[in-house]
Amino acid sequence: MLLPNEIYEVLKIVRSHESWRRFECINLIASENIMSPLAKALYVTDMMHRYAEGRPGKRFYQGSRYIDAIELKVSELLSCLFNVRFIEPRAPSGTIANAIAFKALADAGDTAAVVSISSGAHISHTSRGILGALGIKQIELPFSTELWNIDVDQAMKIIEVARPKLIVLGASLYLFPHPTKQLAEAAHSIGARLVHDAAHVLGLIAGGIWTNPLHEGADVVTASTHKTFPGPQGGLVMTNDENVFKALSSHVLTFVSNHHIHRFPALAVTTIEMKYFGESYALQTIRNAKTFAEALVAEGIPVVAENMGYTKSHMVAIDVRKFGGGAKIAKVLEEANIIANKNLLPWDRQEEAYNPSGVRFGVQEMTRFGMREKDFEEVAKLIADIIVRGRDPAEIRKKVIEFRKMFTKIYYGFDMPEEFNKSVEEFLNLGI
Ligand SMILES: Cc1ncc(COP(=O)(O)O)c(C=O)c1O
Repeated sequence: MLLPNEIYEVLKIVRSHESWRRFECINLIASENIMSPLAKALYVTDMMHRYAEGRPGKRFYQGSRYIDAIELKVSELLSCLFNVRFIEPRAPSGTIANAIAFKALADAGDTAAVVSISSGAHISHTSRGILGALGIKQIELPFSTELWNIDVDQAMKIIEVARPKLIVLGASLYLFPHPTKQLAEAAHSIGARLVHDAAHVLGLIAGGIWTNPLHEGADVVTASTHKTFPGPQGGLVMTNDENVFKALSSHVLTFVSNHHIHRFPALAVTTIEMKYFGESYALQTIRNAKTFAEALVAEGIPVVAENMGYTKSHMVAIDVRKFGGGAKIAKVLEEANIIANKNLLPWDRQEEAYNPSGVRFGVQEMTRFGMREKDFEEVAKLIADIIVRGRDPAEIRKKVIEFRKMFTKIYYGFDMPEEFNKSVEEFLNLGI
């Protein structure tokens, strides 16, 4: 029997997306990544149909004995990988992880100190996002474009005078680690708490390339599990403080009913992969980012934070004001199948979000597809062909599609033994 036409229409959309983004684009969105075949295979199981409100062993629903087992397992694996005492994995996204943390640590009418959106904060850190929804007031932490970081001395003065209840670090444009240690001391000296949103850099922390902010004095770390950490889309919260953990966990149900349990097997597998291969992946990622930044500059494209060495993360940001602005450049790159996003830079006003000065790149996904330093030099040339040399994006698109054919296999890390891959294939052939 022929299927209804609508089904073919749906299939066509999905197939078109799959062949375009998975095989024909150079994906440089800094908040995205790709799961391993093993994690992907474990993502679609019966668990995606189930509810399990509450905590393992204390559920409001029957039928969750294996859900309890996987939730405990994933928490244990994450605790070990990040060397922390308590993990709350039920946040289905980084935004909800922030909501849970902010709600647990502050009340309506309290104040939180955060950097501005233009200087990198995520919208959930601000009065336009979760902070505002919870009635928490926002004051700004000063940002220095010289250091491309929070101005610690000024920030300490502001904290001392304004006495916020919360200090929120971590960012969406996150090139260099925020000064957690100093600001945690400042927070604790006035009885405030420090939340570090490590959404973007969780994979770099897992690989040991960035320090876990909890080990530098943060009270709580929130994160997404799908940016540099190449797991399923989701969030998590971690802490070493038992009372804080109890407060966090008691607020999960404020924001989440069904916590999308089918993420957990994929998250568990990704966590194990990161335990074995995370370091080489993270190292290659930051090497690629640095080389990419230098190559862009060599091609005549201004990269921010030049005096600081451009980046210590997976991200690179270019200032494209002289080429017509971020909106125009992100769009023309997309025409050439190079996918990135326009981005505010610290001197932009928030109202300029639709045409900011910058474009943000992340190298983590293409690193997972096997790209190394010399490949990112090629990518920089392709970008300059469009931005600097004004070549026709349609012509460059053909080159991008050809180039991308060399990078279709997903690497866990660069020291992965071939037998590992073979065993994964055998395991997958067994079916679930
Ligand atoms: C720093 C930061 N925190 C939180 C989030 C939100 O994460 P999610 O998309 O998982 O809700 C983002 C999104 O990119 C982010 O950049």
